[in-house]
Amino acid sequence: MNASPLQPAQTQDAPAGTTLYGGVTSRRVTVRDLAKAKRNGERWAMLTAYDALTAGVFDEAGIPVLLVGDSAGNCHLGYETTVPVTMDQMVMLSAAVVRGTKRALVVADLPFGSYQESPAQALHNAARLMKEAGVQAVKLEGGERSARTIELLVDAGIPVMAHIGLTPQSVHAFGGYPVQGRGDEAAHRLLRDAKAVQQAGAFAVVLEAVPAELAAQVTEHSAIPTVGIGGGPGTDAQVLVWTDFAGMTAGRVPKFVKQYANLRATLAQAATEFAADVREGTFPGPEHSFS
Ligand code: KIV
Repeated sequence: MNASPLQPAQTQDAPAGTTLYGGVTSRRVTVRDLAKAKRNGERWAMLTAYDALTAGVFDEAGIPVLLVGDSAGNCHLGYETTVPVTMDQMVMLSAAVVRGTKRALVVADLPFGSYQESPAQALHNAARLMKEAGVQAVKLEGGERSARTIELLVDAGIPVMAHIGLTPQSVHAFGGYPVQGRGDEAAHRLLRDAKAVQQAGAFAVVLEAVPAELAAQVTEHSAIPTVGIGGGPGTDAQVLVWTDFAGMTAGRVPKFVKQYANLRATLAQAATEFAADVREGTFPGPEHSFS
């Protein structure tokens, strides 16, 4: 059967069971691919990225979804929290990630203060991320309290990833980064939040720092993919902040982080050796010099 003009070949699903890994390679991953992965029980990985270079590495490694997180604030820009991050910064970082990638679905965070005022403010800023940076989706924090905003963005054709549980933009209200959803009342609140964002039309929901059993329960009842960070093994997808997973972060990392490399030590060693070579006059050698 010929594809109808309304369904060009590039928007069709990949063959069953091959949606995200070993499947589509000639176009970007879409929210439809993620919905299909949920139906097929295919688990997937998401990483943050804040620049074209590292985003390109993760894209080539086959990470299907990259998040330009406002964690850029504390992981990339030198702030203590995500709170100071601005829309202009998010647009600049997101545009770089889009330029550095070919296949990953790029999701950008709406930073603190860019969407809470009104759904109209959220629409204006989400449209900036899509038009100026070229991202394919946005993420915002909040469950029931953000449902109306999510609905408006989705109605406007903007795919929205929700973020519930520990929402770092509320660090000062939480008084730190405590685990969420402990106890009956908090667990019920989390379940209500998950239901609210799904009903509002979110295509996926991040569950941050919640007990593993509760995250698994939310996942079981959720029609959209759940993306865990500190939510145990029972979610549909897992996300890590790239500077944490690669061992670039200075000092302690959260309990839920697994470090897959020690780039901080590797870079420090390289810098130390370079400085020693320069001091001793062994760099540059003849092989690095022009005659
Ligand atoms: O900003 C970020 O990196 C995030 C992840 C922790 C999910 O929101």
